[in-house]
Amino acid sequence: MSESLLIRHAGQLLTLRGPEGARRGAALSDISMVANGAVLITGGVIEAAGAAEDVERLAAGADNVLELDAGGRVVMPGFVDSHTHLVFSQPRLLDYEMRIRGADYHQIAEAGGGILSSVNAVRTAAPEDLETQARRAIDNFARHGTTTVEAKSGYGLDETAEMKTLVVLAAIDGQPLDVVSTYLGAHVIPPEHANDPDGYIDWMSRKMMPRIKRQKLALFTDVYCDQGAFTVKQARRYLSAARKLGFGLKIHAEQFSHTGAARLAVELDAASADHLEQADHEDAVALGSSSTVATLLPGSVFHLGLDRYAPARSLIESMAAVALATDFNPGTSPTCSMPMVLSLACIRMGMSPAEAICAATVNGAHALGRGHQVGSLDAGKQGDVILLNATDYREIPYHFGVNLVATTIKRGAVIYQQGQVSGGKEKESAADAR
Ligand code: NIG
Ligand code: FE
Repeated sequence: MSESLLIRHAGQLLTLRGPEGARRGAALSDISMVANGAVLITGGVIEAAGAAEDVERLAAGADNVLELDAGGRVVMPGFVDSHTHLVFSQPRLLDYEMRIRGADYHQIAEAGGGILSSVNAVRTAAPEDLETQARRAIDNFARHGTTTVEAKSGYGLDETAEMKTLVVLAAIDGQPLDVVSTYLGAHVIPPEHANDPDGYIDWMSRKMMPRIKRQKLALFTDVYCDQGAFTVKQARRYLSAARKLGFGLKIHAEQFSHTGAARLAVELDAASADHLEQADHEDAVALGSSSTVATLLPGSVFHLGLDRYAPARSLIESMAAVALATDFNPGTSPTCSMPMVLSLACIRMGMSPAEAICAATVNGAHALGRGHQVGSLDAGKQGDVILLNATDYREIPYHFGVNLVATTIKRGAVIYQQGQVSGGKEKESAADAR
């Protein structure tokens, strides 16, 4: 007999329920809030979420019901972080200090930092060490309320190191977070192909992608389209090959320079165009009339000390489906915190707290093709829920840099429970409860 979990006494239950599909325009503010709500999860799946009396009546007829009292606080779906570079071996503290002192990208690379230092680290790391690093990150995501995470390869570039990365991602999928894998072979041009980027694109298209597809090691492919990385022409070739093989498509687009990559994403019906800091009004209009999700990553702008954030308001007004993600990576965004991303989205990009929450749940799920499974508390979706130390949802971005997540529930099981503060010491555990 299936065990049920009843979450009672949610002062603000954000169901995020609404019409199917990604939220756009005014609908992005619709968090479908129920005052005094409850959630019933049975066999890991949401049976009901809504007004307390209705849900509790249903629970009264069920056997084997565990109860969790939300104590009048906010309850909502777990965050769906749809853009991360999860496996990288080491932090890049040299880059960090040099950047603070004013060094530019080239000086950092010359001193032994930059993306290629992560490539070296991943190439030389033992698979078990990479897995340990990845599991620690997953633990941290769970503590910050994320229940589904996308993860890219792209710090290996050669066959052995890319496969090693993707195998680690497959090993941690479902333990306990869902991990959606993306092949980012086209992250930067590897040193051994420095004079032959087109040859590298061909090799990835003919050799790597078919192998990854056969071994079911990634659902998406991604390309970093920017100065110093790949051109729009190369990206089109790479993504067209990926599409023929049945991969979903993603592009790192318009991050540091305006290249036309956002328009390419629309042309190829990509699942998402990510970054978009340099996107213009025409890009916003093109994204608004497409099904490509505009995934904004304000953490990287913040960490790089830059001022130009993506034009969220123009994108929302143009009816683009805006999602928010961490871009967790060692160079530009070393954070697992979706709540911090929400704070940046509100104060630096002019998104309202409700829009930011919608972008970090429902629209993140759509950027991963999982809108039917996660992102809202609808009957039949996965029982992925978080409880917050807040009585008003606006507190989540308002208390910047503060993690208000008290409990994280994945498929009906508590995977993280914040400890009690006693004698100045706080005990936390992020146990795999399954
Ligand atoms: O999404 N822009 C390219 N890739 C990453 C950063 C990679 C790195 O610096 O390690 C990003 O910001
Ligand atoms: Fe990225």
